[in-house]
Amino acid sequence: MADSRETNMVKAFVTGWPVKHSRSPLIHGHWLKQFGIAGEYRREPVTVDGFPAFVASLKSGSSSYVGGNVTIPHKELAFHLADEPDAIASDLGAANTLWLQKGRLHATNTDVYGFAANLDEQHAGWDTADRAVVLGAGGASRAVIRALRDRGIHEINVVNRTPARAQELADRFGRAVHAHPIEALAEVVSGAGLFVNTTSLGMDGGEVPEIDFSRMNSAALVTDIVYVPLKTPILAQAENQGLAIVDGLGMLLHQAVPGFEKWFGRRPLVDEELRNLVIADMDAEQ
Ligand code: ATR
Repeated sequence: MADSRETNMVKAFVTGWPVKHSRSPLIHGHWLKQFGIAGEYRREPVTVDGFPAFVASLKSGSSSYVGGNVTIPHKELAFHLADEPDAIASDLGAANTLWLQKGRLHATNTDVYGFAANLDEQHAGWDTADRAVVLGAGGASRAVIRALRDRGIHEINVVNRTPARAQELADRFGRAVHAHPIEALAEVVSGAGLFVNTTSLGMDGGEVPEIDFSRMNSAALVTDIVYVPLKTPILAQAENQGLAIVDGLGMLLHQAVPGFEKWFGRRPLVDEELRNLVIADMDAEQ
């Protein structure tokens, strides 16, 4: 059989360690089929030690990839090794999408776009909130903070178990961002218009703090970037208290759109069919 280089098939990848659980091949495979594009999107398991050589093979063209996605644990290194990281990747210090252009390796981070696009679709007007609370201060939290700041939310309160990590983000993202210890959660939630969970709290069977969401303002929204399960313990709590909720699956789907467009030249749609396909895959794994 001819390999993809001989047939000029456009090839993209997702790399991580491990990468076997990534749902990106399902998403991009669906779009390739939908458009009838003779392209390929495949998993590339690469260890941390092997990642620089993998990037070198991309840059030299020997791997014949046009670009791809990067997931844990390579996002920071991908940003550092890219020739042309954009402003978003630089702000976050991490990249999840790479592409070659005129022999240069470009990098961005589409989680910022994915987070906002999901809420735009599921809960238009979410960005009119004046005060937001972001629980967690890891890598995912950075993308959320950048999205909230881009949309002009005046006050972004980052609450974290380790206050120093929240302070680091406040220092990094400027005047709109304020750091708080987790003990201040109840007070910070009071009167807020948006609550975003970026932690895996409760997912390992551990305790989830009781949060009095009823103290948020009357039009408030609670969302989570974790999407397994779709209704996380924090979302379930908020829903029981009568708050509007949006799950995190749409962020995963929307963050894939800009990469597909760069590699394969068509802008795909996030629709119900795709969402159901991924949900069926999640169900099959349980
Ligand atoms: P990611 O890149 O996915 O955001 P991360 O960098 O490991 O992952 O960050 C995980 C976040 O979840 C952190 O804010 C972490 O709090 P710490 O900075 O104090 O570690 C938070 N987190 C994870 N488990 C938690 C728990 N049981 N209670 C409170 N916060 C937790």
